[in-house]
Amino acid sequence: MRTTLLAAAFAQLGLSPFAAVAAEETAAGAEEAGKMNVGEQLPPKVRGLLIEEMQGILGASQEIQAAIVQGDHETVAQQAQAIHDSFIMKQEMTQEDEQALLAAVPDAFLKQDKALHQLSEALAEAGRSQNTALQRRQFNEMIKGCVRCHRDYASARFPKL
Ligand code: HEC
Repeated sequence: MRTTLLAAAFAQLGLSPFAAVAAEETAAGAEEAGKMNVGEQLPPKVRGLLIEEMQGILGASQEIQAAIVQGDHETVAQQAQAIHDSFIMKQEMTQEDEQALLAAVPDAFLKQDKALHQLSEALAEAGRSQNTALQRRQFNEMIKGCVRCHRDYASARFPKL
């Protein structure tokens, strides 16, 4: 099975993030719940893998934008699928790395990662069905998700968000 970096970590540990996320959000209620600079909390190797994944996602997003405006549905589908699938060779992350990752990030961060995962899958489907209006909407949602996660979890890196 192909997954994002974080989804892979969950799958391997057999955890389900969502019950915990819901509980935390209700309890803490808050915009402030779990906000932090995730990158700084990670071991250098894992941080490197996250950054590598982000650069891959950025490249794919740029190609998707170009493809949407040109009606190149096949490229939309391919690149959205590439975001959905892992850019990281799973073998690069040991089980220890995955545990370090899960220990460092709050549940709400994992929830945002999961949302990206789902949106990219929907966008790939919109590409396959050659639906430009839907591609546009889902692409916009995806970019919102990038900004939101960076604002909440990478504010040191992106202080103007
Ligand atoms: C679940 C949270 C999350 C989502 C969603 C997310 N990012 Fe990120 N991204 C991060 C974090 C955290 C960093 C900072 C990593 C660091 O500095 O250690 C980052 C860093 C980056 C960087 C800088 C990488 C570098 O060269 O150092 C780029 C580019 C990037 N993200 C692109 C994107 C794009 C494009 C999207 C949406 C399609 C996206 N990200 C969605 C969490 C996220």
